[in-house]
Amino acid sequence: MAGFKWTDDLSVGNTMIDNDHQHLFALVNKLYEAMSSGKGNAVLGEILDELITYTKSHFGREERLMQQLSYPEYSGHKAEHDKLVSEVSELERSFQAGAMTLSSKVYMFLNDWLNTHIKARDKLLGQAAKAVR
Ligand SMILES: [Fe+2]
Ligand SMILES: [Fe+2]
Repeated sequence: MAGFKWTDDLSVGNTMIDNDHQHLFALVNKLYEAMSSGKGNAVLGEILDELITYTKSHFGREERLMQQLSYPEYSGHKAEHDKLVSEVSELERSFQAGAMTLSSKVYMFLNDWLNTHIKARDKLLGQAAKAVR
């Protein structure tokens, strides 16, 4: 399983959001490295926790930006955030319960998030933020 790489096509054209996404990628790669180098569950759990906490604060920043912009797609975008948070929380629960499928589940979650959410929802938000400046 390859790591996740930040590439220019992931830029949404907004510095705050792009910086957040890059930090998220760094955390995801930290999790991958820990998994592939066979780090123990305590270390994996800590990184997963850090990832979840940062994800929530990132979503909060995007949601505040949408409110400031009176963004018309707010509810649909927020609904996807809520779904992603509940999915990642579910991952954490199954990880803590001792499920051994963390890596493939994390991969599926991230793939959906990165390929679907960032490239669609977050890009539209980045364009909207640019338009009002
Ligand atoms: Fe978003
Ligand atoms: Fe985002």
